[in-house]
Amino acid sequence: MADRKPLISGNWKMNCNHFEAIQLVQKLSYGLTKDDIEAVDVSIHPPFTDLRSVQTVLEADKIPIALGAQNCHWEAKGAFTGEISPTMLQKLSVSYVICGHSERRQHFGETNEDVNRKVKAILKHEMTPIMAVGETLEQREAGEMEDHIVTQVLEGLVGVKKATVGELVVAYEPIWAIGTGATATPDDAQEVCALIRSTIGEKFGADAAGSIRIQYGGSVKPGTAPELMAQADIDGALIGGASLVPEDFAHCIQYRLR
Ligand code: 13P
Repeated sequence: MADRKPLISGNWKMNCNHFEAIQLVQKLSYGLTKDDIEAVDVSIHPPFTDLRSVQTVLEADKIPIALGAQNCHWEAKGAFTGEISPTMLQKLSVSYVICGHSERRQHFGETNEDVNRKVKAILKHEMTPIMAVGETLEQREAGEMEDHIVTQVLEGLVGVKKATVGELVVAYEPIWAIGTGATATPDDAQEVCALIRSTIGEKFGADAAGSIRIQYGGSVKPGTAPELMAQADIDGALIGGASLVPEDFAHCIQYRLR
């Protein structure tokens, strides 16, 4: 089994102007020790308009937190009004790009095919996709969860080379647990993360399955992070609300101490 370094990511969603973003990063960095950041990879995903400011602070203060984005287009440039390309993100030293977040699928009609195009574009520009998947409560109650998750995973990864799949991150975010305070139980989260890993194993081989990092997301808080992170197939967390509170996000990163 590959040694998978945990990845804790803060998805700020549509919060913080660039002044607030600078303050949030600085406060977060005060709450973290060198040991915290050596044991765990950390990424933060501010809105596009904050990226340059946050990049400057991270670099100037030598804060070892990776910069991430919440979305991108699949084309490198062109007539796509309002979109941001992977080339632009790469130039800002962005390392991780979330794609296929349920809010993008739900409110902006993103399909598995769109997500797949984004995954390939992000990889092509030497950044790491965090591909988000997850079921609605209706799908879970109707017994459709497994099929839905397997389809999202496989259709999102069409055409990605076996040797590359292990470098990706998949985030399992049950839609019913996002922003609701209803975290999946550690057992439920583990079950789906194990399903994602075995799906990857069957399609892309044991090496890919052993290396790929799988995050859980959905109302993760300092109190719930340790037990979730203790699960065999959970290698990290994708955190919304709690990532906007520097103390809470730092405490999630320090889950080993709690
Ligand atoms: P919350 O942590 O606010 O539930 O958000 C989860 C999420 O959607 C992260 O991408």
